[in-house]
Amino acid sequence: MKKKLLSLIMATTMLFAGLFTACSGSSGDSGKGGKKVGVSMPTKDLQRWNQDGDNMKKQLEAAGYEVDLQYASNDINTQVSQIENMINNGCSVLVIASIDGESLGTVLQQAKEKNIPVIAYDRLIMNSDAVTYYATFDNYKVGKFQGEYIRDQLDLENAAGPFNIELVTGDPGDNNARFFFKGAMDVLQPYIDSGKLVVVSGQTSFEEVATAGWASDAAQARMEAILSGNYADGTQLDAVMCSNDSTAFGVANALASNYTGKYPIITGQDCDIANVKNILADKQSMSIFKDTRDLASKVVEMVQAILEGKEAPVNDKETYDNGKGIVPSYLCEPKFADKNNYKELLIDSGYYTEDQLA
Ligand code: BGC
Repeated sequence: MKKKLLSLIMATTMLFAGLFTACSGSSGDSGKGGKKVGVSMPTKDLQRWNQDGDNMKKQLEAAGYEVDLQYASNDINTQVSQIENMINNGCSVLVIASIDGESLGTVLQQAKEKNIPVIAYDRLIMNSDAVTYYATFDNYKVGKFQGEYIRDQLDLENAAGPFNIELVTGDPGDNNARFFFKGAMDVLQPYIDSGKLVVVSGQTSFEEVATAGWASDAAQARMEAILSGNYADGTQLDAVMCSNDSTAFGVANALASNYTGKYPIITGQDCDIANVKNILADKQSMSIFKDTRDLASKVVEMVQAILEGKEAPVNDKETYDNGKGIVPSYLCEPKFADKNNYKELLIDSGYYTEDQLA
């Protein structure tokens, strides 16, 4: 009897001890001063977001925080419920790269009610007053570089022309897409107006040239239709202004089986491995290098500042109005990349190894 009582006492003590360790363990696990950071990324389908997520997790953990990193398979409802879980599971700050900038207002209201600051990562979250800061690359400049590359390669200032061009931009729900497109068109539009550049398909408005979900398949299908409708008679295509690498990839695929003329200039953005390989194989002309390590470290600085009650670093307080007011932003510098400088930019900087590009 005595023995039974003793083992009961021991078992109960162990149970409590276990519970106690579990509780203290979980608060101990939740990082610096018990702080957990929720990081919501749009999709694993595109190389860059995997890098962004990895960089954020690595750098936040190195700074002593626990990280809840989630990818939403490019599905808006999934992203909303992942963010809801982050809010309910005790995240102190949210870092969000939105799938659709317009779709997070309701869930972010919950964050606001719980005083959880929100950093919009790379893509601005629209029509919500819950967005504390925005960190991105200078998106207008990305588009401007693409437009200028086409202008310079075709020597639009001096050559007689006319030259034929087609335009391919990104997802209408991504605020960045409008900045990229505007940056490029501010350079190209005067030449279209003067007739030196001709958009043979006639598709020039943002809505006509947008690509849902930035999907390569969609860009490929649209370019195939454009080629068969406008270039099948041997008309030469001189340039395709693509806002990023996933769309440039689709365009290169369309050209491979539907076009035999002189290969056009194709722009891109992100320096995805598949696209750098295409650049080396002369199937894409340039890309924009956005060092996601820089963006991640800037966002980590923002998180730290917020959690320490300090002002976060920003360098732009006028460009990004999300419909509820200007969101203080930090804009990182994008860089132009092509066959001539990719080694220095991508390999010497340790972003890729030579093997990855072989
Ligand atoms: C990013 C680009 C990316 C695109 C597609 C944009 O918001 O800024 O770097 O190529 O989304 O994922």
